[in-house]
Amino acid sequence: MSAAASQAGGPSVAFWQERFESQRTPWDRGAVNPALAPLLARGVLPLGARVLVPGCGAGYEVVQLAAQGFRPVAVDYAPAAVGLTRARLAQAGLDAEVIEADLLDWAPSAPVDAIWDQTCLCALHPDLWVAYAQRLASWLAPGGSLMLLAVQIERDGRRDGRIEGPPYHCDINAVRALFPSNRWQWPRPPYPRHAHPAGFAELEVVLERARS
Ligand SMILES: C[S@@+](CC[C@H](N)C(=O)[O-])C[C@H]1O[C@@H](n2cnc3c(N)ncnc32)[C@H](O)[C@@H]1O
Repeated sequence: MSAAASQAGGPSVAFWQERFESQRTPWDRGAVNPALAPLLARGVLPLGARVLVPGCGAGYEVVQLAAQGFRPVAVDYAPAAVGLTRARLAQAGLDAEVIEADLLDWAPSAPVDAIWDQTCLCALHPDLWVAYAQRLASWLAPGGSLMLLAVQIERDGRRDGRIEGPPYHCDINAVRALFPSNRWQWPRPPYPRHAHPAGFAELEVVLERARS
């Protein structure tokens, strides 16, 4: 775990690894996020685009992106997630970069064209969000797209004297502060809201990184 992550007291790699090993993965739909296909059909990404999938989990979207002619770069620090993603790719006869690394320590060798963040921001303790958002911005090529599924989950902040999560609620105004409109092009609200089988919802926001 990075020094920053341990300081925040949020979930560690051991936490996520144990969740995969004990198959307590309620975030896992067992299928590709239904928001992905319509976005790709809209032509948000040029064919062949290098797409970072941070916190890729079981890798459904990684396989889908590879199958549709994109070049996914999947990153996860839980060995079980990396193993699942590699196995799913192999089963489909597809290839992609799958990297076991802490997103708070790692950096890509070259800027990526797009980022698909599904249930990764919400998996990080909010104390790490500013650092994480700065990293995403620095990895994305100017004009690149950040496709973010922002988890919406009711929390009243009273349990156990701790911030409740993961998942941590991704308030849309907090997301806006992380990716401010002077550096990111925001779509006009309302944002599409997708129900998740685990009981929460995801707000879909597709932001474009400013070119200068
Ligand atoms: C809630 S799961 C979501 C997985 C997948 N995106 C999905 O929606 O099915 C969060 C994932 O992020 C990974 N993760 C959390 N913090 C991470 C970090 N600092 N570096 C790399 N991966 C991380 C976990 O191991 C886990 O696989």
